[in-house]
Amino acid sequence: MDNSPENILHSRIFNDTLRKWQCSNTEIATHNLMYPLFITDNDDTKEEVSSLPNVYRFGINRLKEFLEPIIQLGLKSVLLFGVLCKLKKDDSATNADSVENPVIRIIPLLKKWFPDLTIACDICLCPYISHGHCAILTNENIIDVKATCTRLADIACSYAKAGADIVAPSDMMDGRIREIKSRLASCGYISRVNVLSYSAKFQSCFYGPFRDAAGSAPSFGDRRCYQLPPGSKGIALSAVKRDVREGCDMLMVKPALAYLDIVKQTKETFPEFPLFVYQVSGEYAMLYYGAKNGIFDLRTALKECITGMRRAGADCIISYFSPEILMWLKDGLF
Ligand code: PBG
Repeated sequence: MDNSPENILHSRIFNDTLRKWQCSNTEIATHNLMYPLFITDNDDTKEEVSSLPNVYRFGINRLKEFLEPIIQLGLKSVLLFGVLCKLKKDDSATNADSVENPVIRIIPLLKKWFPDLTIACDICLCPYISHGHCAILTNENIIDVKATCTRLADIACSYAKAGADIVAPSDMMDGRIREIKSRLASCGYISRVNVLSYSAKFQSCFYGPFRDAAGSAPSFGDRRCYQLPPGSKGIALSAVKRDVREGCDMLMVKPALAYLDIVKQTKETFPEFPLFVYQVSGEYAMLYYGAKNGIFDLRTALKECITGMRRAGADCIISYFSPEILMWLKDGLF
């Protein structure tokens, strides 16, 4: 046995304080969490998403009472997704930014109820377009990139006008960040609204429950040609670089757990950009059902996952578990 001093690691971690010193920048504070919320056009409903226990679709009359205690626990930011139950979907996603859109209607209310809450809005066509893809398609079902980017910029501006602090395009189309940025500039929102790009978004089976929640599954085909293949590392870096070149303010890797090497690569390449990871719906369901079936303790497993994300370089974790984590944080248990 080698008893040289540098070989003896136990002496460095035998109590809690010593262990904490080994974990710099992996702590979780309230500002490290963003909470995704589904807002429907059915104003008086609050319905649980069947594949996501404890996650709800809220009508605008049901959100305040739910959110109030979570804000009191220290919630700093939310990510809003619109869900259409009554309004129509069409080929140009008209209701993504019509005056009846539930996200556009709730932003000013949220600002009034919770003035310090930072509001991010997902920008995508898929919940509002008839075929469910994240793009406008030609008659031959080919992506019309130019028309899509123009439409995304319209939507981003409408959300900015309604009072959003952050617009977060999740579609992965080439050129959308530049288009959104220049439109925000020409409409006078550039210094008030940040663009958080879903810059490295992989094609993932872990989005399944979300598509159920948002009613946004494509009616034919899949998202292979605009979301990244899971094995790809180089093109993920290219996608991030492109978004930086086009002027985005913050970056994202999605999903989180299976892509922590991409998180590390992204943080190391662009340390000056806040980096978000999205612990997506399938990751939530996996942890929820694993714990429910006695495989592990939820808090312990979740803490291990979130710590891994922070260690890899994430500054903010978008998580459906935010309320639980905030509660545990308050009690000193996370
Ligand atoms: C919309 C969008 C999706 C998610 C966030 N924005 C679905 C998709 O790309 O198919 C997934 C989030 C989750 O699974 O929690 N483009």
